[in-house]
Amino acid sequence: MKADPENNQERDQLTGDEIMHGHEYDGIQELNNKLPRWWLGLFYITIIIGVIYILRFHVLKTAPLQEEEYLTEMAAFEQTPSEEAPAPSSSSSGDEATVTGTRLTDAASLEGGKTVYDKNCAVCHLAQGQGLVGPNLTDAYWIHGGSFEDIVKVINTGVIEKGMIAWKDMLSVTDIQQVASFIMSLQGTNPPNPKAQEGTLFNPGS
Ligand code: HEC
Repeated sequence: MKADPENNQERDQLTGDEIMHGHEYDGIQELNNKLPRWWLGLFYITIIIGVIYILRFHVLKTAPLQEEEYLTEMAAFEQTPSEEAPAPSSSSSGDEATVTGTRLTDAASLEGGKTVYDKNCAVCHLAQGQGLVGPNLTDAYWIHGGSFEDIVKVINTGVIEKGMIAWKDMLSVTDIQQVASFIMSLQGTNPPNPKAQEGTLFNPGS
C-alpha cells in the first residue's frame, strides 16, 4: 500500500487500483477496480435499448405487445382454412347435438348397428357384448350411464385415458345412432362368460 503522489489516493501496490476504505474484511482489501471498457459499453447499450423499448411499446405504442401479437396471430390462424381438419359439417360428423337422435328399434337399423359393432367394437367388447378390454355391454351396470343419450355420448367422446376411442370423427351420425341402438338391444341377453359388472346399476326409470 502506498500513497498516490498525484491525488493523495492510496493505491494497491500490485494493480495500482484505488483502495476503498472501510472495505477490508479479514485482511482482504476491496479495490475500486475499473470496469472493463467492453463491459461498460454493453451496459450503456442496454440502457439505450431499455429507453427505446419503453418509448416504442409503452409510450408511443407503435408496436404490439405480446398479448396483442398472440391474439392477431390466433385470429389469422383461425381464418385460414385447414386442409387436414376441415370444419366438421353438420351432416357427416358425430357432433353431439346432431347425433343424439332417438333409439332405433327397426330390424334394418339394428342390423346396421351390428355391422358397425362387429367391425369396430367387438375387438374390445367382444362379439356378443360380454366385455373384454371394454366393459360388458349386456348387463344393467354402466360406468357412464345406460340411457340412449349416455351411450351415444360415450361413443362420441370416448374415454381416451381408459382406452375407449372417441368415434365421432370415425363413424357417421347414422352409424353411431344405429350402433348405440344395437348396444341397447343387447340388454339382458346374458351371453356366456360375461365380464364382471362395472359401474352402477342403471335404472331406466330414474
Ligand atoms: C380399444 C378398445 C375399445 C374399442 C375398440 C371400443 N371400446 Fe368401448 N370401451 C372401451 C373401454 C376400455 C371402456 C371403459 C371406459 C371406462 O372405464 O370409463 C369402454 C366403454 C364403452 C361404453 C360405456 C360403458 C359403460 O359401462 O358406461 C360404451 C357404450 C362403449 N364403450 C361402446 C363402444 C362402441 C359402440 C364401440 C365401437 C364403435 C367401442 N366401444 C369400441 C374400450 C373400447
